[in-house]
Amino acid sequence: MKEKILVTGGTGYIGSHTVVELINEGFGVVIVDNLYNSEAEVVDRIAQITGVKPQLEVFDLCDREKLNSFFGKYENLSAIIHFAAYKAVGESVKKPLDYYRNNLLSLINLLDLMKQYQIPHFVFSSSCTVYGQPEKLPVTEDAPMQPAVSPYGNTKQICEEIIRDTVVSGVGIKAIALRYFNPIGAHPSALIGELPRGIPENLVPYITQTAYGLRDELKVFGDDYDTPDGSCIRDYLHVVDLAKAHVTAVRRLIEEKNKSGYEVFNLGTGKGVSVFEAINSFERATGVKVKYRVTGRRPGDIVKIWADPSYANKELGWKTMSSLDESMETAWKWEKYIRNKK
Ligand code: UFG
Repeated sequence: MKEKILVTGGTGYIGSHTVVELINEGFGVVIVDNLYNSEAEVVDRIAQITGVKPQLEVFDLCDREKLNSFFGKYENLSAIIHFAAYKAVGESVKKPLDYYRNNLLSLINLLDLMKQYQIPHFVFSSSCTVYGQPEKLPVTEDAPMQPAVSPYGNTKQICEEIIRDTVVSGVGIKAIALRYFNPIGAHPSALIGELPRGIPENLVPYITQTAYGLRDELKVFGDDYDTPDGSCIRDYLHVVDLAKAHVTAVRRLIEEKNKSGYEVFNLGTGKGVSVFEAINSFERATGVKVKYRVTGRRPGDIVKIWADPSYANKELGWKTMSSLDESMETAWKWEKYIRNKK
């Protein structure tokens, strides 16, 4: 029988790409999503890519009763991959309680009911934001967590702690937290990708929207940092590579290879890329120029961070395959697809 996986937030950006990879690898998938930041028709697009339409249940994970009924209906789930969360750094500063309520309550409800329904495996979407500005680069998983710079970042830290404490308490749950660096790009089919609401906060959607003519110019937030070209450095990885790591993590749990019960992995390329290098890569990959202007620094920005992914390389047998240029090319293809559709 097929192993069935619950993917929360499975119509979202990273969630939808992960659902595709799970289906491609022969897993059954049921999605729970409240469609707060995504669209139901994503399941049709997933069906176009994979030939299989995943089940979708639309409700909010903060609603414990609904979640309880859901688990009553879907028996024998092998694992849960938990993406559903609010994720906008800037918004979290303005609406901290919404972020704490949503991101913490949904997690607590899930873990509590996993215990009750004896679902043994959990994969969590975490973020390199938990490291703050690390002292040593590339950053390894044992680097100390720094005080979070935003409520959003704090929810990721607290969620990791809640999961670890739950695993340690011996209720029969094993978990893997995946700390993502900066996911970019879209599925090569251009049928799924990131759908930012309003003005994008993140660099690559801002680049593609500027290239398309939706924004006048990209603002480069600072060129006077202590980095080779003065702009901030990140580790950008292709979302399909990131999605595949989730399949590997689920397999590791199901095959009982997670001995310690709770594990954490960095997911990145291991390569630091500056904002200017990212712009150059986009222009090289697409042949389209991006108008930009250097402005002041963005408050709260980390100066430089990139992953040491060697633990994930070794233990998960996972590494990124796509280049930065390939990622940019798919981001551009997706941008054109959504604009032509509207
Ligand atoms: N940047 C610009 N102009 C823009 C947008 C971004 O110059 O219009 C720069 C930023 O200053 C930064 C880089 O591009 O140097 C990347 O910025 P993003 O907003 O794309 O990504 P962040 O690294 O700031 O944030 C991301 C995720 C968060 C996560 C964080 C962890 O969006 O969810 O990584 O570090 F918490």
